[in-house]
Amino acid sequence: MELKTYLKEKRELVESFLGSYFGPEDAPRVLFDSMGYSVQAGGKRIRPILCIAAYEACGGKADNIVPQAASIELIHTYSLIHDDLPAMDNDDLRRGKPTNHKVFGEGMAILAGDGLLTEAFVLLADPRYRHSSLSASAVIKIIYELAFAAGAHGMVGGQAQDLLSEDAEPDAETLSFIHRHKTAALLSLSVRMGGILSGADKAILDKLNLYGEKIGLAFQVVDDILDIEGETEVLGKPKGSDEKKKKMTYPRLYGIEESRKIAKELIDSALDALSAFDEKADPLRAIAGYLYERKN
Ligand code: IPE
Ligand code: IPE
Ligand code: MG
Ligand code: MG
Ligand code: MG
Repeated sequence: MELKTYLKEKRELVESFLGSYFGPEDAPRVLFDSMGYSVQAGGKRIRPILCIAAYEACGGKADNIVPQAASIELIHTYSLIHDDLPAMDNDDLRRGKPTNHKVFGEGMAILAGDGLLTEAFVLLADPRYRHSSLSASAVIKIIYELAFAAGAHGMVGGQAQDLLSEDAEPDAETLSFIHRHKTAALLSLSVRMGGILSGADKAILDKLNLYGEKIGLAFQVVDDILDIEGETEVLGKPKGSDEKKKKMTYPRLYGIEESRKIAKELIDSALDALSAFDEKADPLRAIAGYLYERKN
């Protein structure tokens, strides 16, 4: 398996669905333009890809769950639009383009985020997008788990602590809380969702979850490192954003070298969590390595 080809194929599946999804527009045109602007701007699509890879690791076929996987990208994109707002990180560049509020204004950017967040659940609950092999009870379960991971118990809670911790002296416990909630929650949910949709039992779901939590935390540690060492053109978002806002980050508490070591150890534990899986989990294994090495 060649990871580059795998990522490209799955990204295309997700993007082709997202490109066709927003049908007749029954709200002001500019709202849909604003939502579409950020969704179509690109991005790695790593959350839906992880969902598909986990589903395949459990024996499923990617084509069956593209809408469900894509729903995570709608929530992720909303989180980026709001994260960039002047009241939050106040950034001007995202996915290589001016941020949503720079183009559409703050009010419309807030509403585009609201629209994308809500639409994720419209999509999940719409029976037309449920493949016949998926059980209604599995879909109800992923709606609950996605809402839990995205909301106050997960990402939103982490984003709140991130805001509250600006300018504060970093401490290990708060830092780990922020990163596990603002980022790892949605990433581990992505992996778990693939398992739930495949009908996997609790033992398998626990292993997928552990993998997801480890790569999820590593993902944000690497994001913190790239904010210092990356290039704005490659990142597609401004480097130095964390320093500007005095964010509580891994490099700020541990330094770059130690942060890299921590990320590597997390990736190794993620791989350990997959030890009982066969070669169908190879994409999940390769993605773990890629998330450590990535440059954007
Ligand atoms: C950026 O996520 C926000 C974080 C949680 C660090 P990604 O790095 O997945 O951004 P895209 O989707 O590829 O643009
Ligand atoms: C944000 O973390 C995580 C989200 C939930 C969006 P960051 O603020 O570090 O993400 P980037 O660096 O702006 O993508
Ligand atoms: Mg932020
Ligand atoms: Mg940010
Ligand atoms: Mg960042």
